Amino acid sequence: MTVELTVPAQAGRPGLLLRPWRAQDAEALAAAHRDAGMKRWLMTSLDGTEAARRWIDEQTAAWAEGMRFSFAVVGQDTALPVGHVAVKRKTAGAPSAEIGYWTSAQVRGRGIAPLAVDAVARWALGGDRGPSLTRLELLHDVDNTASCRVAVKCGFPLRGELAPHPPKFPVAGHIHALEPGGSA
Ligand SMILES: CC(C)(COP(=O)(O)OP(=O)(O)OC[C@H]1O[C@@H](n2cnc3c(N)ncnc32)[C@H](O)[C@@H]1OP(=O)(O)O)[C@@H](O)C(=O)NCCC(=O)NCCS
Repeated sequence: MTVELTVPAQAGRPGLLLRPWRAQDAEALAAAHRDAGMKRWLMTSLDGTEAARRWIDEQTAAWAEGMRFSFAVVGQDTALPVGHVAVKRKTAGAPSAEIGYWTSAQVRGRGIAPLAVDAVARWALGGDRGPSLTRLELLHDVDNTASCRVAVKCGFPLRGELAPHPPKFPVAGHIHALEPGGSA
């Protein structure tokens, strides 16, 4: 059964639909990845529509395996993907996972990422047909202040700093984590 999450419309902002990525999204996905901000801050770089198609196929397979739940964030006014939120397990059946996200350059600064991350976090941590996780981690480079703001707005407490680990992680990071049943 396809998981669909919704964020109701608010004054001045259309509603959002969050649903698994589909093959038809490949062009919009490739277009979003042309942005310099995506290239700078994300580990995954998708160069063109073919790469986007392959990535969508991988997300579909990983969802079926219960390893990664990747949502396209779609504007209910245009039905086009404007963002992404993924919950990623390191090992099968693990009770904790990492949450990652981006929004397209054209829609940044409108509070879309916090709304989308909040909706997916509730689904991932709640008992309502989600994976019923007990801990969600949110990691970002210390100088990614926009991402840090998303973490704070979604109520992910800062748990500590991660030392740089070059070449993959040349700068220090923040680790935020949400544990509804654990310590605040
Ligand atoms: C981080 C990111 C997901 C935020 O998404 P968003 O939908 O713009 O979220 P918000 O509207 O809540 O903005 C968050 C912060 O971005 C900054 N911001 C505001 N307008 C912006 C714009 N037009 N462009 C870039 N950043 C902007 C502000 O610091 C804002 O915080 P504030 O509301 O307290 O002022 C988005 O900037 C992005 O996709 N960046 C590239 C990929 C990335 O860094 N992903 C996270 C990896 S850990």
